[in-house]
Amino acid sequence: METGILHTHHLIVVIYTLFVLLNFIVVIAKRRNALLAIKAKTRIIRVIFEVLLLGTGIFLMVKSPAGLSEYIFVKWIALILGVVFFIVGTKKMNSVLMFFSTLMFVYAYFLGSTRDIMLKPEAMRVHDAYLAAPDEQTKGKDIYTIACLRCHGEDGKAGFRKAKNLAISELNDDAIAGYIKMGRGIMPSYHYMKEEEVQVLVKYINHIRNLDRK
Ligand code: HEC
Repeated sequence: METGILHTHHLIVVIYTLFVLLNFIVVIAKRRNALLAIKAKTRIIRVIFEVLLLGTGIFLMVKSPAGLSEYIFVKWIALILGVVFFIVGTKKMNSVLMFFSTLMFVYAYFLGSTRDIMLKPEAMRVHDAYLAAPDEQTKGKDIYTIACLRCHGEDGKAGFRKAKNLAISELNDDAIAGYIKMGRGIMPSYHYMKEEEVQVLVKYINHIRNLDRK
């Protein structure tokens, strides 16, 4: 269910961003009549898309264990700015505003895929977190927060996108490491992780499990 909603959200975002880009090009070409025709012809479908975009976005935000994280907040601001620039830009045939509108939508797209306001890839953030944290437990926790929390949740029990409950997992260390390196089903494989990063994560998952067994 959550995976289906996520894919739908993703698809609509891509189509909507292309639509904004198309309007941008028409404004640059100074084709006011074409712009009005696009506006008239897409009125109903646009409303459907906007409702779907908002609906799926809010659903994912409410359901996801990562909830209202910093990047989601920035994503909302980027989208609101993008829409405002779009409305004023198409009205005034202003290509600078249309450029910034398109930029905001593209930025929001990459925010969604990297989950970082600086658009830094997850692998890089994991490597940096490993080097920066003072001890093994903090290293494990920080990597877990970056890579795993969005499905498993802070305590391992969130079960977002059918993620297994880590608190009751019976797997041994090698099997956990195998899961991390290979992934399974919806869970991605983390082949970018270095062996020492996998090992602190395995320890951290044992820590989460032990919290529950005490
Ligand atoms: C996109 C969501 C998602 C993310 C992100 C994710 N997982 Fe998972 N995880 C799952 C799903 C789904 C399963 C169940 C897979 C199956 O067995 O079919 C799972 C299963 C597991 C299991 C096996 C538990 C058991 O007892 O069978 C472990 C261990 C695990 N995940 C650890 C991690 C770690 C560590 C990370 C971060 C590096 C992580 N996961 C990131 C979705 C995710």
